[in-house]
Amino acid sequence: MSPVLKWAGGKTQLLEELMSKVPQTYNTYFEPFIGAGAFFLSLKPKSAVINDTNEQLINLYQQLKHSPSEIISIVSSLDEVACDKNYYYKIRERYNQKITSKELDPECAALMIWINKHCFNGLYRVNSQGFFNVPYNNKVTGKSLDKDNVEAISRFLKEQNVTILCSDFENACKKVSPGDFVYLDSPYVPESSSADFTDYTKTGFSYEDHDRLADLFVRLDKLGAYVMLSNNDVPLVRELYREYNIEPLEVKRLINRNAAKRSGKEVIVTNYQ
Ligand SMILES: C[S@@+](CC[C@H](N)C(=O)[O-])C[C@H]1O[C@@H](n2cnc3c(N)ncnc32)[C@H](O)[C@@H]1O
Repeated sequence: MSPVLKWAGGKTQLLEELMSKVPQTYNTYFEPFIGAGAFFLSLKPKSAVINDTNEQLINLYQQLKHSPSEIISIVSSLDEVACDKNYYYKIRERYNQKITSKELDPECAALMIWINKHCFNGLYRVNSQGFFNVPYNNKVTGKSLDKDNVEAISRFLKEQNVTILCSDFENACKKVSPGDFVYLDSPYVPESSSADFTDYTKTGFSYEDHDRLADLFVRLDKLGAYVMLSNNDVPLVRELYREYNIEPLEVKRLINRNAAKRSGKEVIVTNYQ
C-alpha cells in the first residue's frame, strides 16, 4: 500500500528511518496528523486511530474505507478526458462547490485525488474562505490512481478496524493508553519566516500549537506511551524536546518553489531508545 496523494511533509523518503524506530511491541497506533499516511500504510498496525483537521482529507479515508469502487469509477471517468487548463479549472470549481455545500461523499474524495495529480506540485492550499486555489501543473498525465492500491487500502482500513477522526490532535489522543504508540508529524516549525507550510487547512499551525504539542508529548510520555515526533531541526524544536532523544537527519524536500531549498535538516524525537 502507498499513499493515494502527494502531500506536503509526506514521509515516503523517511520511511526506512522511521521504521527502524518502531517499538518492538505496542498496542494501538495513533497518528493524529495523518496527511497522506505514508508511514501508517507502511507500518500496517493491527489497531489504529488516525486523524486530521482537513475535512476533505478525512472524507477521503472514510470513502476509501466504505466506497472504494465509487472512487475508482469516478476517477476513471475524470481520467477519460485529456486534461488541459480549462478542464482542470472546471474540475477545481466542482471540488470547491463540494467544499461550499459540505458534501463529504465519494465524488468529493475522487475529485481530491484527481486534482492532487493535476495541480502544481501536488500542493494542498486553501484561501481564507477555505477554497482550494492551487493552479494547474500544465501536464497531461495518465491515470490518477492505482486501482489495486485503492482496493488494498480499503480492505486494510476495514479489516484492521481503523478509527478515523476529524478533530484537533489533542482530542485525537484522548484515548491513548500505556503501551500505545503515537507518531506526531505536525505541520513543521518554519525553517525561516519565508519557508511557511502552515496553509494545509483554513487554520494554520501556530507557535502556540507547537507548545501545546510539546505539552502533549510530555503527557503521553508520563502516561507510558511510546512517542515519536518529526519536525525541522530548528532551535525551537531542540528547546521544546530537550529532555528526549533527538536524532538529526538530512532530507530532500519535494515541495518547495525554490529549487535551492529542496534539501534541509530535520529531527526525529523519541521518548524511548
Ligand atoms: C506534515 S502533515 C502530515 C504529513 C503526513 N505524515 C504524511 O506522511 O503525508 C501535517 C498534517 O496536520 C494536519 N493538521 C494541521 N493542524 C492540525 C491540528 N490542529 N490537529 C490535527 N491535524 C492538524 C494538516 O491538515 C496536515 O495534513
